[in-house]
Amino acid sequence: MADDKTSAKLILNGEEYDLPIQSPTLGPDVIDIRKLYGQAGVFTYDPGFTSTASCDSTITFIDGEKGELLHRGYPIEQLAEKSHYLEVCYLLLYGELPSAAQLEDFEDRVTKHTMLHEQLHFLFRGFRRDAPPMAIMVGVVGALSAFYHDSTDVNDPWQREVASVRMIAKMPTIAAMAYKYTIGQPFIYPRNELDYASNFLRMCFAVPSEDYEVNPILSRAMDRIFTLHADHEQNASTSTVRLASSSGANPFACIAAGIACLWGPAHGGANQACLEMLREIGTVDRIPEYIARAKDKNDPFRLMGFGHRVYKNFDPRATVMKQSADEVLDLMGIDDNPTLQVAKELERQALDDPYFAEKKLFPNVDFYSGIILEAMGFPTSMFTAIFAVSRTVGWISQWKEMIADPQLKIGRPRQLYVGASLRDYVDIENR
Ligand code: CMC
Repeated sequence: MADDKTSAKLILNGEEYDLPIQSPTLGPDVIDIRKLYGQAGVFTYDPGFTSTASCDSTITFIDGEKGELLHRGYPIEQLAEKSHYLEVCYLLLYGELPSAAQLEDFEDRVTKHTMLHEQLHFLFRGFRRDAPPMAIMVGVVGALSAFYHDSTDVNDPWQREVASVRMIAKMPTIAAMAYKYTIGQPFIYPRNELDYASNFLRMCFAVPSEDYEVNPILSRAMDRIFTLHADHEQNASTSTVRLASSSGANPFACIAAGIACLWGPAHGGANQACLEMLREIGTVDRIPEYIARAKDKNDPFRLMGFGHRVYKNFDPRATVMKQSADEVLDLMGIDDNPTLQVAKELERQALDDPYFAEKKLFPNVDFYSGIILEAMGFPTSMFTAIFAVSRTVGWISQWKEMIADPQLKIGRPRQLYVGASLRDYVDIENR
């Protein structure tokens, strides 16, 4: 690096290149290599983006070494304790905590957009009854672009605003309908007098034949799960949304792309995979066997809900989620949950093991969330769909930020080509 810290020096084939350094408000400095190819004719190589910033952003900051997660500067622990999901949505979308009037207006706008176009019911009915809810979510959210034409023009700020509110509002309805469809129960319409989390629980668990009272303990826990998953800066699904949107594609299609990315077990699918793993382990005496498998390089098995690309100390969301799991099970009078016992003992044994300590592997947000969701009555197949509901505001906020950025460019990574060099076509009879 050059001494003045305004630029870094690259020496390549005897030539010197000065690369500007940009300083963030928080986090490490960034070497700006945008002109590198034009000046030096080389690319940089960083599969998995382990050292590459793909954008600038003002929304979320993570310090992986400290185990810190801030939304617009506010620590996630404070937001989880003192705020609630729709207020966090406002904060992520608009940059500041709302006044009482602003919050009331925002909640009103979200509440008034929770219904789905009735024709969409036929789209649901085209799926097999045993379709995974995430498969339905990808399809239905993508299909919203065929129903809400008046909010697909990404160049119109008003349409972007309407699309944002629509997606935050409709995502719980879509997830709940996906669930109802797979269990063969009638769809339950949203109720405007309920808050966001209570409405979601009601749409999932009510039936038309009897009244349904939302349990406030479960509603609070649901809201906290939504809050803890609301945004996580440039993770794989958010980067997918940004890349898809960089071509100018409509927001519904881009969020469907984010949902598809979230589905994988290395990302949002980990909550389902984690609970399935805990159930498979079953009893604490089998834990050493699974820890040994996770450490065995010849076994593809990993401890699900463990490890994170960015957190190398602890995941602050996991700490809150663990407390929540204890609270919810306690308040529900479940004090002998075998899955929770296996989870706690697995965490203890893994944290004592040098393999996990050396690789800085800690429980992540998904380690305990499945236990709460299961206690609420959700099947594992709904876990990732619930993550998608929560993360929608993060995707939308990052999308809005990107579209409004005058520096917006289509995302187009380069490659290190290692295939065949130029060769002549060989006719089929001569191969
Ligand atoms: N169990 C056992 N070993 C692990 C695990 C694990 N869960 N995670 C990482 N490792 C090992 C890995 O084998 C590698 O070892 P080595 O250096 O000897 O090759 C080392 O730790 C680094 O792993 P990596 O795969 O290079 O790290 P990454 O940053 O690319 O992957 C991760 C991060 C989250 C994909 C990974 O830790 C993982 O697969 N965890 C399990 C899935 C999971 O819980 N995902 C949810 C993430 S949090 C919610 C979300 O953001 O969606």
